[in-house]
Amino acid sequence: MRLNQNILLLGKKVVLVPYTSEHVPRYHEWMKSEELQRLTASEPLTLEQEYAMQRSWREDVDNKWRAQPGPPEESCMAGDVNLFLTDRGDPTLGEIEVMIAEPSCRGRGLGTEAVLMMLSYGVTKLGLTTFEAKIGQDNEPSLRMFQKLHFEQVAVSSVFREVTLRLTVSQPQRQWLLEQTSHVQEQPYRGGTSEPL
Ligand SMILES: CC(C)(COP(=O)(O)OP(=O)(O)OC[C@H]1O[C@@H](n2cnc3c(N)ncnc32)[C@H](O)[C@@H]1OP(=O)(O)O)[C@@H](O)C(=O)NCCC(=O)NCCS
Repeated sequence: MRLNQNILLLGKKVVLVPYTSEHVPRYHEWMKSEELQRLTASEPLTLEQEYAMQRSWREDVDNKWRAQPGPPEESCMAGDVNLFLTDRGDPTLGEIEVMIAEPSCRGRGLGTEAVLMMLSYGVTKLGLTTFEAKIGQDNEPSLRMFQKLHFEQVAVSSVFREVTLRLTVSQPQRQWLLEQTSHVQEQPYRGGTSEPL
């Protein structure tokens, strides 16, 4: 996460900030929900494991951000969005994950904007040209959202009951993506004061 650790992305509905230790307690509370564990295919972690995970994400090259509708931070966290560079043999491929954890924040366009902002960041800053999302095959809201964002199904795992959707960013797709995110501003991030810079 070193590349984005001091960057904030300001959208219309969400502000994406890097994942710092200040965000861990709220995130940990969210992930106690069995529904969210199921929808995100996540295992419950102890608080200590969650802090260790946050530290490891901070050190690696992936991009993990918190999506929130506005300051102050911890009180208005809505979810998270991550971009993982999963294929060492293909540096142009990113796997995207998104979770709008607060039920009251769903269905208001936050997930869509957070994903668009991450895709745009991936294309313009990381040189990514292909994105994949792995989604539970019964997760209708998530499947529909990614399909609306031009992702197409490329694989189904009956074992994991999961589908893989892919977006290949051709020139027209890139143009579309940049138009969708032309309002996004990049600013320095000064939160996470307990983190050494
Ligand atoms: C799936 C999720 C990310 C969608 O984010 P969101 O902010 O709620 O969705 P948006 O408001 O941006 O909606 C975008 C599109 O998604 C689809 N969608 C969203 N909620 C939906 C619902 N409850 N039922 C069916 N489709 C839905 C619609 O197509 C919608 O477009 P529309 O508003 O023009 O109809 C969010 O609901 C979520 O995180 N849920 C819980 C965890 C999860 O499932 N994460 C994904 C794991 S792969």
